[in-house]
Amino acid sequence: MDARPILFFDSGVGGLSIVGPTRAAMPNAPFVYAADSAGFPYGVKSAGEIAARVPALLGRLAERYRPRLIVIACNTASTIALPAVRAALDLPVVGTVPAIKPAAALSTTRVIGVLGTEATVAQRYVDDLSARFAGDCLVIRHGSAELVELAEQKLRGRRVEPERYAAVLDGLFGRPGGERIDVVVNACTHFPLVEAELAAAAPRPMRFIDGGEGIARRIAALCGDASRPERAPPGVAVFTRLGDGERELAPALAARGFPTIEAL
Ligand code: DGL
Repeated sequence: MDARPILFFDSGVGGLSIVGPTRAAMPNAPFVYAADSAGFPYGVKSAGEIAARVPALLGRLAERYRPRLIVIACNTASTIALPAVRAALDLPVVGTVPAIKPAAALSTTRVIGVLGTEATVAQRYVDDLSARFAGDCLVIRHGSAELVELAEQKLRGRRVEPERYAAVLDGLFGRPGGERIDVVVNACTHFPLVEAELAAAAPRPMRFIDGGEGIARRIAALCGDASRPERAPPGVAVFTRLGDGERELAPALAARGFPTIEAL
């Protein structure tokens, strides 16, 4: 029996959108949720800063929690640092990449919106995914640090004015061709946490998609059913800085199976 946890990593609460489908696929697996609150937000940092920070941090987390697998539940960190993390750690590492391929398969108008952080939407990696899987589509990208913050607020139980979601979406729909977008890729793990709010604020009905389900299937396949303990022990959430802002997340974390909060 393999009781080592699966460790999810993000700058903030975004990785919880990957925890959800993974929990559904592997209800008994032990989880650790790690948030680099001292480095939050990643989306406005340079690629160099993220590449320097993430592999070292994951090394420390791996030493402390001895996971059987690490999930970089953050598009920004994955698109920039995944190869370096894999090279540095002797563990399976699953990344998170923008769901452009399934979006292209769904779009009938052939106009796709990609909503991510500024850092993610500027990556060559996104150019490559668009060229490979959505070559016949117009791919309109928008980076929003604001939307990351709105998701953080929501999970702290704070009220967010609906107009703020509409203002973020205007960055996509207000662009040339934006009126024909029929599928939006949530290319930041924070964004599925506010998908209902985004759908309500959108100017017309449309699909929002993300990689959560596919990543959960990949994790379950890599771990294998036979290695699960009978019942999952309570999960641990660990922060690189633990202050009042992080403690405000306690109810949301407990509701998702992480009743214990600690500092790295
Ligand atoms: N959740 C992260 C992502 O998927 C980024 C949030 C941030 O800007 O720190 O890109």
